Amino acid sequence: MSSIDSLIENNRAWSQSMTSGRPDYFRQLAKQQSPKFLWIGCADSRVPANEVVGLMPGELFVHRNVANLVYPSDLNCISVVQFAVEVLKVEHIIVCGHYGCGGVKAAMSGAHHGLIDNWLAKIKELYLRNHERLDAIADSEVKADALCELNVADQVEALSRTATVQDAWYRGQSLEIHGWIYGLKDGLVNDLGVRVNRIDQVPPQLRFERKG
Ligand code: CO
Repeated sequence: MSSIDSLIENNRAWSQSMTSGRPDYFRQLAKQQSPKFLWIGCADSRVPANEVVGLMPGELFVHRNVANLVYPSDLNCISVVQFAVEVLKVEHIIVCGHYGCGGVKAAMSGAHHGLIDNWLAKIKELYLRNHERLDAIADSEVKADALCELNVADQVEALSRTATVQDAWYRGQSLEIHGWIYGLKDGLVNDLGVRVNRIDQVPPQLRFERKG
């Protein structure tokens, strides 16, 4: 059997295991989803969102891209955020980066990688803003990991500067954004303690207050 066919086999076995003892499992799940959390993570295959936090189907709304970036001009990411916040009414958005992120390393390298260099542009700018502190770190892996952490904090900030998130706060909706980072070497999440849950944490110049 080719490896692609084995995936269908795996799926049959998984579906069976999920319904053993609860034959209604998928029928119930199909009726509605009501996740409390939105996960924005890296596309890296080693960071499987649901598994990392032990959540079942239906419990985690997920958006992943290279290096877990949030651009206000990214129709894909911002549409996910809007649906999660306005329709699903998630209470928490988790930006979860990971140590050893290839996207962050590529942005740091100064080498040409093609189209993706445009996607990674904001990490390059972040590096530039913090280069004195980062360049003082001798070990290149430690240095890249420090930028991985800064990148998470930067995306938490970027989310807090979107109109969708701010509208939720102005409506009085409870919404907290968290910055986490995952260790590929130990499977553990490290909470960076970066939390934003109020409009007064956003500089006045970056607010979108609706008048009247
Ligand atoms: Co990555």
